Amino acid sequence: MRAKSIELLNKAISEELVAVHQYMYFHFHCDDQGYDLLSILFKRTAIEEMLHIEKLADRILYLKGEILMEAADKVKPITDVKEMLDFAAKSEDEAVVMYNNFAIECGNNADSVTKTLFESLVIDEERHFGQFDDEMENLKKFGDRYLVLQSMERSKKSSAMGMPVGE
Ligand SMILES: [Fe+2]
Ligand SMILES: [Fe+2]
Repeated sequence: MRAKSIELLNKAISEELVAVHQYMYFHFHCDDQGYDLLSILFKRTAIEEMLHIEKLADRILYLKGEILMEAADKVKPITDVKEMLDFAAKSEDEAVVMYNNFAIECGNNADSVTKTLFESLVIDEERHFGQFDDEMENLKKFGDRYLVLQSMERSKKSSAMGMPVGE
């Protein structure tokens, strides 16, 4: 039971690390292009994925396993906003499927605490999917105007405050 759970928990950490790296990369580029709303969304989501890693690692330690911390993939050099949102929504969708399957496996191995942990992550990843999907809808509906408005908001704020803004 323990060995299988530890393997799944480490697999989860390696996928979460990819999400943290990729979302921070998206955050840097949205910030650079002046898209504050998206920049903050990516940063907040990256922080949530980091907190997922913490929960997974705590469980590995409880099971007396080793925390591997190996990212499953390298960062993709995506700087186009639509491609970022496509990538992010797809990643969240895949995470939902992965965690549902991991929860089932842990249930079959009679490890109900790890099962519950994976189920709680499904809830968060579904919420992330919803957020990225909403932004994609906005981008589709309003096109470039949606991005221009974000940039204009930043200009207004920074001229009002006399300094650049961003989170
Ligand atoms: Fe996550
Ligand atoms: Fe997520």
